[in-house]
Amino acid sequence: MSNNLVIVANRLPVDRVAQADGTPGWRVSPGGLVTAIEPVMRANDGVWIGWPGGTETDLQPFEHDGMSLVPMTMTQEDIQGFYEGFSNGTLWPLYHDLVAKPEFHREWWDSYVAVNHRFAEKAAELAAEGATVWVHDYQLQLVPQMLRELRPDLRIGFYLHIPFPPAELFQQLPWRRQLLEGLLGADLVGFQLPGAAQNFVRLVRQRVGHKTHRDLVYLPDGRTVQAAAFPISIDAAGFEELARSESVGKRATEIREALGNPRKVFLGIDRLDYTKGIYARLRAFSELIADGHLDVEDAVFVQVAVPSREQVEQYRILRDDIDRLVGRINGDLGRIGRPAISYLHSSYPREEMAALYRMADILAVTPYRDGMNLVAKEYVACKYDNEGALVLSEFAGAADELRQAWLVNPYDINGMKSAMLEAYQADEREITRRMKAMRKTVTQNDVAAWADSFMSELSDVPSSHGKAVRPAKRS
Ligand code: G6P
Repeated sequence: MSNNLVIVANRLPVDRVAQADGTPGWRVSPGGLVTAIEPVMRANDGVWIGWPGGTETDLQPFEHDGMSLVPMTMTQEDIQGFYEGFSNGTLWPLYHDLVAKPEFHREWWDSYVAVNHRFAEKAAELAAEGATVWVHDYQLQLVPQMLRELRPDLRIGFYLHIPFPPAELFQQLPWRRQLLEGLLGADLVGFQLPGAAQNFVRLVRQRVGHKTHRDLVYLPDGRTVQAAAFPISIDAAGFEELARSESVGKRATEIREALGNPRKVFLGIDRLDYTKGIYARLRAFSELIADGHLDVEDAVFVQVAVPSREQVEQYRILRDDIDRLVGRINGDLGRIGRPAISYLHSSYPREEMAALYRMADILAVTPYRDGMNLVAKEYVACKYDNEGALVLSEFAGAADELRQAWLVNPYDINGMKSAMLEAYQADEREITRRMKAMRKTVTQNDVAAWADSFMSELSDVPSSHGKAVRPAKRS
């Protein structure tokens, strides 16, 4: 019990990999969260609690790259009820504007409660007296309250990485009150956008009946909870450095050559998720070819779809739909050696992502709803020469900051076609002007600034109990 900072997230920041000698080992996940949190963890004897994936049962706490990691185990039933069920079959679609239909099952809820309780107990066991605990994302919304009951001495922060829905949608949830009360166990509840924080405060007032004023909730026991927006970001300098490197430059050239050196390359990189709008985006592109606005000799669309949640039915259906669409588009519009769409169902390391960003002329990010969308920010960070256009959905959190993108409504196929064509035809000055402005935003607001601002706000919350965490030492 010596940890002054405990990070609680559904996932550990490492993935299981086979090492050179064939034995299983760990590799830091490509996501940016770990980059942000690692320095704060080091400065505060931090520990990270999370699930490593799979159903292995004999995992012990371990150190990786100087980080203390505590793996949580899950049974097949936990995976089905808590992870695939309530987290990804109920909450995920409900919080993303009902892009798919959420299912409500009482057994899934029971499993969600039980797994949240196990995470809370583990955090309670590991946190030092007065420590700070930072709980992450929609899978663990009950942890703050459960943890406060076990350890009233702690300072607790919660951050939601995905959108928080308007009251009209949230109210469908049979367990709406329990979830709100779960979150109210925190001293600070962070969201991507101010609108999400407002949705939450409004729901707390309506559904739980607490007094609220602006971004504060007043609880009957005298505690206050603050709800505020902290738009997440990326390791901008790290991505730029990678993009500038010789090896990535070489790889970028290789990719373009392999594509037949077309005049312009469109790029899409997404987890294969129905919220991302991949289907409509590819259709829009294919119509531009069919209408004669683009020619497959000049333009190609590279779509990377990272496999995700493959046991969940909606995701399987989506995969089949996209497979079929890509096959049809290439069959109808491609020529020998010139498919209209180059489709990759795979995940890639950061270096390959940087090479893809560097070689692309137009990135299309067109989700129906997205908490932030870090792919858009990574692309901007990699475009150190200010060349590259971004077509971005209005419904991605990133659109609040990246105003100079070609903004689109992903439900409007004709609108998307026009924006993609405009981005394709834009002259260099226009592209540079827009990219310069977006780069300023992304480099000035990186993920370290995000973590610092959440942590310092959490230390300032008036009624919080624990000690403040020390800020990370940054070079
Ligand atoms: C989103 C969520 C994360 C989640 C990630 C990958 O970004 O906000 O909490 O970890 O997707 O999904 P997975 O289900 O594989 O963890």
